Amino acid sequence: MGKLKVGILISGRGSNMAALVEAARDPAFPAEVCCVLSNRPDAKGLDFARERGIPTVLVDHKAYASKAEFEVAVTEALMDHGVDFVCLAGFMRIVSPAFIERWHNRLINIHPSLLPSYKGLHTHERALADGVKLTGCTVHFVRAEMDVGPIVAQAAVPVLTGDTPDSLASRILTAEHRLYPLAVRLIAEGKATLKGEVVDIAPDAVDETGRLFSAI
Ligand code: GAR
Repeated sequence: MGKLKVGILISGRGSNMAALVEAARDPAFPAEVCCVLSNRPDAKGLDFARERGIPTVLVDHKAYASKAEFEVAVTEALMDHGVDFVCLAGFMRIVSPAFIERWHNRLINIHPSLLPSYKGLHTHERALADGVKLTGCTVHFVRAEMDVGPIVAQAAVPVLTGDTPDSLASRILTAEHRLYPLAVRLIAEGKATLKGEVVDIAPDAVDETGRLFSAI
């Protein structure tokens, strides 16, 4: 079976993209990164991808009259690079239902909370304000509603006494960098499959306690 051909969409730092690119350097990783696409010319992650020899694409949303035209250009660029699976990694444009339909079940996102808690922005500030003791990150298939969709994998991160939004974000980001490659691997190996609107994890992808997360 060939490798899953992944395109990664970023808007900024791109540390999750970097984690995916690093994971894909392992010849045994079942996915390859065909291109990194940014909607912002100043996205720092573009430099990392270029240094690693990954094709980069800039599709500046400001250059398009409408979201629809911007997204058509994004899809065309992805197709030009042979992409058949898309990872959003800090891509700060809300994608339209048409784009989600075009990439139906071939479009995933990483979000810095344990969904369905704390959708949207300022997740860590809100988690701290609520006094939750556990938060984390989620990789999910993208659906029309923001930060909603079948959950592929999650990692839990404890909230520590004295945490600030920045300290919490930093620990969650470390978990994200392990979670995203794991989720892509499971999907590429056919071990995370959609059954309706729930992702089913293959028995051989979990340990004897039923946990996926020993791998994280
Ligand atoms: C990550 O923490 C990601 O979970 C979050 O943006 C950050 C991007 O960092 N995404 C969202 O909030 C999407 N709703 P990165 O550019 O270094 O990967």
